Amino acid sequence: MSDVTAGLPADFFWGVATSAYQIEGAYDEDGRTLSIWDTFSRRPGAVANGENGDVACDHYHRMPSDVAMIARLGVDKYRFSVSWPRVQPGGRGPVNAKGMDFYSRLVDELLEKGVDPWLTLYHWDLPQELEDAGGWPHRDTAYRFAEFAGVVHDALGDRVPTWTTLNEPWCSAMLGYDTGRHAPGRKNFGEAMRATHHLLLAHGLAVQELRARGVASLGITLNMGTHSPASDDPRDVDAARRADGFGTRIYMDPLVHGRYPEDVLVDIAARGAEIPVRSGDLEIISTPIDVVGVNYYTSHVHKATDDAGASEVVSQGRPVTAMGWEIVPEGFTALLLRLQQDYGVPMVITENGAAFDDLDVEDGFVADVDRVEYLRSHVAAVAAAVRGGADVRGYLAWSLMDNFEWGYGYDKRFGIVRVDYVTQERTLKQSAQWYRELIAQARR
Ligand code: FCB
Repeated sequence: MSDVTAGLPADFFWGVATSAYQIEGAYDEDGRTLSIWDTFSRRPGAVANGENGDVACDHYHRMPSDVAMIARLGVDKYRFSVSWPRVQPGGRGPVNAKGMDFYSRLVDELLEKGVDPWLTLYHWDLPQELEDAGGWPHRDTAYRFAEFAGVVHDALGDRVPTWTTLNEPWCSAMLGYDTGRHAPGRKNFGEAMRATHHLLLAHGLAVQELRARGVASLGITLNMGTHSPASDDPRDVDAARRADGFGTRIYMDPLVHGRYPEDVLVDIAARGAEIPVRSGDLEIISTPIDVVGVNYYTSHVHKATDDAGASEVVSQGRPVTAMGWEIVPEGFTALLLRLQQDYGVPMVITENGAAFDDLDVEDGFVADVDRVEYLRSHVAAVAAAVRGGADVRGYLAWSLMDNFEWGYGYDKRFGIVRVDYVTQERTLKQSAQWYRELIAQARR
C-alpha cells in the first residue's frame, strides 16, 4: 500500500466529499424553498425512475451520526455544500436562521471530532426564484451569489477555514443550459455561454467578498480530464482542441490569466453566440485564489464527425465504471502535470471516485473490489503527478456515501459507504475500510 502514496508530502491531507441536494433530503423543512433540482426532478423523464432529492440520504436528520461516521474514517477534511434555498429562501434577502443553524451545527460537530470543514457555496441548487428571474444567463444572478456568500460567511466564517465558490461550472452551464440534461433543463448554446460568464463573474465577486472578510483559503472546483485526438488527422486534432477549450481553458484561462482563450471565442462566434464580457469583469474573475479544486473521473479521445465542427468521443476499449466512463488513471497524472505547467496554482483533488454495480450487503460487508482498485490506481496517479512536480495538497474521495446521482437518480452508487434507501442504514464498504487504512499508513 505504501508505494501508492510514495512521494506525497507529510502534510498531504485526505477527506471525503458530498453535496447538499445529493444527501440532505428535508426539501421542504424549516423554511427551505425550492431549488432548480427540486423542480427539474419533477419533470417527467428528467431523472431515472422519476427519482428526486426529497429524502435522499436523510442527512438533514442524521447529521450527527453521519459526522461520527466521517470521523471514524480517520479523514482530515469533509467537503460539503450549502443549500442556497435553505439558508436564503428564494435567493435574496435575510438569512433563514433555522436553515443556517443546520450548517452551524454541522460545522461544530465536525470541529469537535477533529475534522476540518471544507465548504462549497454552490453545488448546483440554484433557488428556483432566481431561475425564474433569468437564471445564470442573467447577469444579476452573479451579484445575488456574492450576496449569498456574505450571508453564509456571517454565520460560519468564524469556524470554516476553506471556502470553494462553485462546483463544476461546466456542468451548471453546459448540462444545465446547453444539453438540458441537468437542471434547469434549457437547451440553448447562447444561454450556456452567458451562463458560463456569469458563473465566473459570480465566482470572482464572491472571492472579493470573502477575501475582504479575511478568508485565507479560497478557490473554485472544476471538472477536468485530458482530451486527445483519435488520430493526427487535423480534424481530430481540432476536435480535441475544442473539447479542451470548452472543458478546461474557458475556465482556467480567465481565472488565472484574466482572459478568455482566443480560439474558443472564435468557436463561440462561429456558433452565433458570444461571451457577454463587460469592462472590468476579467479583473474580477482573475482575483487571485489559493487553490484550484480538481474533480477527475475520466479522460477522453475525440474524433471529428462528418458534421462540420462536430465530434464524438471514441472508446479506447478500456474497462468502464457503471457510468460507462473509461478508467484512465494515467490521464489524471497527465492532467495534473499540465495544469501545473500552464497555470501553476496549488491544487487539491476535490472529487475522485467511481460508481459500480455494488453487490448488496452480505454479513455486514460490501465487497466493492472494483472501487478499491479504482481509488488505488487514482491515488497512485496523483502521487505520480506530485513526484513529477505537480503541487497537489490533498485528496477528497467522491463520495462519502451513495447518494442522489443527478439525472441517474439512486441507480448509480458512488459511495465508499453503502446506503440502504429503505432503512437509511449505512454500511462501510470494503473501499471505506481500505481508504481508512491507506490514510493511517500514509501518516506513519
Ligand atoms: C461530479 C459532481 C458530483 C457527482 C460526481 C459523480 O460531476 O460534482 O456531484 O455527481 O460528479
